[in-house]
Amino acid sequence: MNMLQSAADRKHYSVIMSRADDFDCWRDQARRLVRCGIAPERVMWTEPGGLGDLFSAGSRDGEALPEPPANAPHARASKRFVSVARNAILHSDPERFALLYRLLWRLQSNPRIMEDKTDSDVRRIEDLAKSVRRDSHKMHAFVRFREVQDEDGTEHYVAWFEPDHHIVRANAGFFKRRFANMHWSILTPKGCIHWDGKTVRESPPAQRSDAPDNDPTEDFWRKYYASIFNPARLKVGAMMSEMPKKYWKNMPEAELIPELIAGAQSREAQMVDAGAIEHEARPETLEAIERAISACRNCEIGELANQAVMGAGPQDAALMIVGEQPGDQEDQSGRPFVGPAGQLLDVHLSEAGIARDRAYVTNAVKHFKYVQRGKWRIHQTPTAKEVDTCRWWVEAERDAVKPKLILALGASAARAMLGKTVSINSVRGQPIALDDGSELWISAHPSYLLRLDGDARKQQEQLFQNDLSEVRERLSQIAA
Ligand code: URA
Repeated sequence: MNMLQSAADRKHYSVIMSRADDFDCWRDQARRLVRCGIAPERVMWTEPGGLGDLFSAGSRDGEALPEPPANAPHARASKRFVSVARNAILHSDPERFALLYRLLWRLQSNPRIMEDKTDSDVRRIEDLAKSVRRDSHKMHAFVRFREVQDEDGTEHYVAWFEPDHHIVRANAGFFKRRFANMHWSILTPKGCIHWDGKTVRESPPAQRSDAPDNDPTEDFWRKYYASIFNPARLKVGAMMSEMPKKYWKNMPEAELIPELIAGAQSREAQMVDAGAIEHEARPETLEAIERAISACRNCEIGELANQAVMGAGPQDAALMIVGEQPGDQEDQSGRPFVGPAGQLLDVHLSEAGIARDRAYVTNAVKHFKYVQRGKWRIHQTPTAKEVDTCRWWVEAERDAVKPKLILALGASAARAMLGKTVSINSVRGQPIALDDGSELWISAHPSYLLRLDGDARKQQEQLFQNDLSEVRERLSQIAA
């Protein structure tokens, strides 16, 4: 080793990140360091406001980064590394930049290192990425808006949220798509985002006292939560891990939780008395449910000339898809979603990367409701009462399959899951925590898309596709 080289090898470099969540900045600097052959132990990474450089006390700001030699090879990184790094960089651990650089450095000589699940750097980075994904999910699920008026009288919705990590900017797109027609602000101690219907704006960190407190929207959430709370299904552990206490203070419905848990047993007894729960009668296996629904005449639909159509799919499916009711072709074949709506659903599922054959696909109502016009059987929408009567069966299927995520398509399916009618546009594209620890996502029904033409159809298909992509993303998080 010559003198010049050994002197250069002792130099330390300091990289000050422009923002705590700036993946592009980290990547540019990291690539340059790799190309210059600067080993991880000679680089100190500091985030804005970070204390940072303990090890290079003698050269506070380190040396300016050198230019890489023109013929230096480019840094290589596997797809898996980039996708994990994009999440991990949002973690609040101050060592994340250095850890990522160490892995990038090691990737140059061992391109498959991310596959080594015993490697401590790989494990650590995967853990960081996982807690960031979890934090994002909590933000999607637990942001609660309060209504205020802007100076010009426009309605404005403001929410307070306390993320663990630097996830606010990365999640702006989710809220922009989800609440495109509202003016909203999400205030957090890690920075704020605002949407005025056209652009997303950012502002510095806020405090809890900057956000409004109570307003009538809270009543909506409380009523909604009490109505979906089913004491017979309550699993306190699962519910608490999905809705940890730290979020309760911002969630109006959380006030009800202790009371609902305490009252669950007596409510269950009341429901048994009222005939809503028949522990003895509810069949537990899919085969027994199928036999029972074939014999079901609890409403008039079962009296029509039709056959019951049971759900189809693996009993251990993580995803359950719920439609409205079988149509003409489903009635003839005895299988759900095989006609035109099913074919359109298949196209969108496959585009979103969701394997239909790994989902349990069923309907809110088990028999085809129709009126006969000549030789045609014309579809009739089931009434709310009919959906409520048939809820018994979809709940039995849910108990047998125990899906982690339920996708309800259209208003009847949403009612079957929530026990109340909701407007699809106000609930679609966001997770709704259910009381057994699973979560519900609601989207439009494919038959609705089939009834549209031209631009309206294109626009709605895009929204449907977006919803399915969110579901696929969430499924892979749950499975991870
Ligand atoms: N529409 C539904 O909701 N379900 C089916 O099975 C077919 C069409």
